[in-house]
Amino acid sequence: MIEEAAKLIAHSHFLIAFTGAGISAESGIPTFRDKGGLWEKYKVEEVATPEAFRSNPRLVWEFYKMRMKIMKEAKPNRAHLALAELERMGLLKAVITQNIDNLHREAGNKNLIELHGNIYRVKCINCDYSEDLLESGRLEEFLEEDLPKCPKCDSLLRPDVVWFGEPLPQDALQKAFKLAERADVCLVIGTSGRVFPAAYIPYIVRDNGGYVIEINPKESGITPIADIFLKGRAGDVMEHLLAKVKRCLKDKGC
Ligand code: OAD
Ligand code: ZN
Repeated sequence: MIEEAAKLIAHSHFLIAFTGAGISAESGIPTFRDKGGLWEKYKVEEVATPEAFRSNPRLVWEFYKMRMKIMKEAKPNRAHLALAELERMGLLKAVITQNIDNLHREAGNKNLIELHGNIYRVKCINCDYSEDLLESGRLEEFLEEDLPKCPKCDSLLRPDVVWFGEPLPQDALQKAFKLAERADVCLVIGTSGRVFPAAYIPYIVRDNGGYVIEINPKESGITPIADIFLKGRAGDVMEHLLAKVKRCLKDKGC
């Protein structure tokens, strides 16, 4: 199975990756729907909807600051690094992620589409103010603030992430769909494939004749349409897979 996957990747013309929370699990970031995942401890409707923010912004900020603290300590793992290397090798054309943790960027991937936003970006609920806390260098100070306010108009700032019931950033989604149409191979790593429209990506690849290779320790919503299912943790499988791709390219015989 892994040989087949390596061969498809090595011979691909337009490889993309579609990732979810599972790719960052080995970096110490909790997933959502696994045992012990975030949606077991928190109610989505209390922390990740526009209504929740209107009725209790403090609780929503508590949730996101908790996640900011976890994410800022996390480092890209072997799976993120393998994807960055595949991009440097010229094979991987884009990463489309549902994650907000910034780890693909930290690993070195340049062509990255973040469908659900980014934990380090905040925006005003009233005016056009937005800020990247990594760029402004204000992350530490921000984490100390009680309820963050817009420096331009004094309204509340909110995380620049997609909440349930909100549309995805349309330019990012359209770009992602176009990439999926072009892709001849798509690596799907660590997603339950339950949240749409993001989860359409592998379906679009398949409907346009591309191969879907899935990496996950458990079967997911995507597994029924995967051409190859590599059962296992993202870090282990991606390290192994990358080594096989390199061998395949070196031998030219695979
Ligand atoms: P989920 O928590 O729904 O799914 C995580 C997936 O990762 C599961 O299929 C696990 O089996 C798999 N997994 C766990 N550990 C893994 C490992 N070490 N290696 C590989 N896979 C592993 O997370 P997502 O599918 O990303 O949306 O969730 C999609 C969206 O739902 C999120 O972006 C978020 C969430 O609610 C919003 O907040 C809008
Ligand atoms: Zn403002």
